[in-house]
Amino acid sequence: MDYLKITGGTKLSGSVQISGAKNSALPIIAATILSDKEVVLKNLPNVVDIRTLLKLIGMLGGTVEHNETVAEINNGTMNSTKAVYEIVSQMRASILVLGPLLARFGECEVSLPGGCAIGQRPIDLHLKAMESMGAKIEIKGGYVRAEAPNGLQGAKIVFDKITVGGTENTLMAAALAHGTTTIVNAAKEPEIVQLCDMLSDAGVKIKGTGTSEIIIEGTGQKPLIFKEVEIIPDRIEAGTYLCAAAITNSTITLEKVNATHIEASIDKLENMGCSFEIDGSNITINGTNRLNPVSLVTTEYPGFPTDMQAQFMAVATMAIGESVIEERLFENRFMHVSELNRLGADIWLKGSVAAIRPVAQLHGADVMATDLRASSALVLAGLVAQGTTNVRRIYHLDRGYDNLEGKLSALGAKIERLSE
Ligand code: EPZ
Repeated sequence: MDYLKITGGTKLSGSVQISGAKNSALPIIAATILSDKEVVLKNLPNVVDIRTLLKLIGMLGGTVEHNETVAEINNGTMNSTKAVYEIVSQMRASILVLGPLLARFGECEVSLPGGCAIGQRPIDLHLKAMESMGAKIEIKGGYVRAEAPNGLQGAKIVFDKITVGGTENTLMAAALAHGTTTIVNAAKEPEIVQLCDMLSDAGVKIKGTGTSEIIIEGTGQKPLIFKEVEIIPDRIEAGTYLCAAAITNSTITLEKVNATHIEASIDKLENMGCSFEIDGSNITINGTNRLNPVSLVTTEYPGFPTDMQAQFMAVATMAIGESVIEERLFENRFMHVSELNRLGADIWLKGSVAAIRPVAQLHGADVMATDLRASSALVLAGLVAQGTTNVRRIYHLDRGYDNLEGKLSALGAKIERLSE
């Protein structure tokens, strides 16, 4: 199994190019199911989750040509509506095929994803939305079986809780439904905006993109013809490199970023004492040798993202005072705490709140990755820990970071991928 060996203590310098956003590419790949013509996707990140979803599209009968950052997908050949356990159990985001399969074919079977390392992550809100649109849903043998033989009907969907995936599934379902769908309490993430833009460019009438109320006029089961899509920059990958500069007190430039999408992270790092120069799609961050402590609460966009919580916790271990981090979205997203403590951090956890006390130095150790973002936090800590840190189980990292060790090496970090 591969692991990363990091020798800490090196400053970073130079530039790094940010890849396309995994969490935008995934719903966009699922949305291609709404078309029976070829769709070209560009700037895909070269990560395992993208390959997994493209594999699922292939298993459903779609035709996929994929070459690192570009995929040509033609779902005119799609002849199955069953998303099997083998794929869905590897990647929860496979649930995103539910809405488009049901909308286009009037039926589908999708394996239930189950819980995962960061929490229970139910899909009740996705299912309630499909039911409101007239689908009959049955859960049997570990599968969600959904049917709407005469197509889905537009409806008013009020989400009790803001859900990114639930909003995406509903948007895709609504695009081919009969009549108008209104989503109340919709998610506002940039990934949702890109999905709305893709649907709008294909002629679907959408009002309220980027707001909490989105109104979609469906085509009545008429498949869409998509224009080429260029995936937006990955705001979480960008935030992770900002944290790499902050924790090592370095100056680096991120290229191909959307600064607006990472305002929450920039704001917190500014409070911690880092400074920024923004020039179009380039952002330069200057670290500081006296990082202030941080206080943050994870919440929905445009608030501070849960996907940056672990990385900020790693940075906070190097601050000059006590930091407090509250996780409000996922009940179990603190698996990195005990591993950071193995590196010499002093983090105290109570319920959904972590207090991070300052320590003079982290010390290299063997640590284990537990989920995608927790893994990147361990890599960040390894960059400043004295001696050698081996981060194991890095298959989590490979799911969502495009060439992390290659990009960090190019910035001067001492990091290598080894096999045991
Ligand atoms: C998306 O997950 C992202 N994944 C996650 O990124 C991210 O952490 C999360 O949004 C929050 O920003 C993708 O975009 C592929 P939610 P998603 O539905 O859509 C609860 C990463 O590291 N909920 O917005 O699954 C849920 O349990 C990943 O890249 C229900 O209760 O998240 C959570 O507490 C990890 N019922 C909250 O809502 C439902 O039916 C928000 O989840 C659905 C969700």
